[in-house]
Amino acid sequence: MSEDKNPYPGENNTGHFWDDEQDLRELDNRPPRWYMQAMLVGIVAIVVYSIYYPSIPWFGDSYKGTAGWTQITEMKQSVAELEAYREKKFAATEQAIADSSLEDIVRDDELKTYAIKTAKVLFGDNCAACHGAGGQGNAGFPVLADDDWLYGGSLAKINQSISNGRRGNMPARMLGITDEQASELATFLIETGKGAQGNPNSASKALYLSKGCIGCHGPTLAGNQILGAANLSDSIYRFKAEDQHASVVRTILHGVGQGNNPQTQDGVMPAFGHSKVIDAVQLKKLVVYVHQLGGGDPVKPAAKKAKAAKVKAPVAAKAAKTLKDPKYTPIVAKSDAFADVIAAAEANYKTNLAQNLAWRDTGKMIKEAKKSKDVALAKKANAQAVNALRQASVALTASPRF
Ligand code: HEC
Ligand code: HEC
Repeated sequence: MSEDKNPYPGENNTGHFWDDEQDLRELDNRPPRWYMQAMLVGIVAIVVYSIYYPSIPWFGDSYKGTAGWTQITEMKQSVAELEAYREKKFAATEQAIADSSLEDIVRDDELKTYAIKTAKVLFGDNCAACHGAGGQGNAGFPVLADDDWLYGGSLAKINQSISNGRRGNMPARMLGITDEQASELATFLIETGKGAQGNPNSASKALYLSKGCIGCHGPTLAGNQILGAANLSDSIYRFKAEDQHASVVRTILHGVGQGNNPQTQDGVMPAFGHSKVIDAVQLKKLVVYVHQLGGGDPVKPAAKKAKAAKVKAPVAAKAAKTLKDPKYTPIVAKSDAFADVIAAAEANYKTNLAQNLAWRDTGKMIKEAKKSKDVALAKKANAQAVNALRQASVALTASPRF
């Protein structure tokens, strides 16, 4: 028997056996047809893909592909789409802000919220470097989140500060103040700033009054917002330092914004009114944002409320009337208990479905609420179902939302 005679005639084996019993034999069958076809399709796909898209690396560069596709252009396209969407979605609100006075924006909850939300990024980009991320200030840069204003906390004053910029100015060594007198004044101011705990030397008050400080900081040290002269009777310091006494002495001896004095400190707030980075609408948003950070002066309610209410009345009456239409009358939950709320939500959603104005996530919410017995979620679902009914009753254009 020759060695290479196949012990299994008719079988397409390679003659290689994996065990002594020759149970495990290596066969040489063709792969299944579908397998070969799939592989061929794969190869064609690879070739097409490699020609169409950037593929083969080549000495520091690579083949660019016939499509001209890159991740960067794809990202830019998506960003442009998103911007266009945003612009369309918020165009009305942006326009309302452009058309409204600062006071009206603050009085209108929706505009105010929108302004604050969008201004946050603007503030981070343009102001936070100096004033801190939350307006909490930095050494040399005033806090915007308190009611201690250099120039005033009304919307108009804040607008002036941001639009026109500010430049603090205090002369150095007023009326020939000596180093000792500066030190005495500093102690007096710091002690006064401590309030009840402080112990200011009343004799030093005479020095304060005689050296012209009063002209800008006033007889009671309260400062002067027209000049941007700081309030010296509180312990809030713009030029904050670990050794506050030394810092106040420096301010007294070298002034603020005295260009020819190398030790002077500067208080320069850039003007954003004509800047290219911030447009008029953005500026309004920033004013509203800074105003609500902490210490903005309260805004009076609008005087013409009565008139506005009159205009609105017929619309409300009409809404009330159409709401009586049983087709659109929402069912009110009997109590805040889960069973009652979910029953109302289901009933209202059923009416939604019947009128073909159901919002898809209402159904989802109801399902989830039933699973988790979550009253808050049930309430939300119910509110949404009721809203769909209201909308349908007021505007006849309401339609399903997905
Ligand atoms: C280069 C630093 C710098 C930048 C950037 C800056 N500010 Fe100022 N800002 C100042 C300084 C300094 C002052 C105080 C000016 C003074 O002492 O006269 C000031 C003052 C102000 C005031 C007046 C504060 C008061 O107490 O009356 C407001 C409001 C203000 N800044 C808002 C902003 C807003 C909003 C932005 C961003 C759009 C901004 N600032 C960007 C430095 C800056
Ligand atoms: C011409 C007006 C003017 C006169 C006069 C003047 N100041 Fe000022 N002073 C200012 C202004 C404006 C500021 C605020 C600068 C800023 O914050 O940009 C200031 C700031 C200060 C500060 C720093 C406050 C802080 O928050 O860090 C001290 C302290 C001070 N003055 C003390 C005095 C004393 C003491 C005198 C009298 C010797 C005096 N000033 C006279 C205008 C004046």
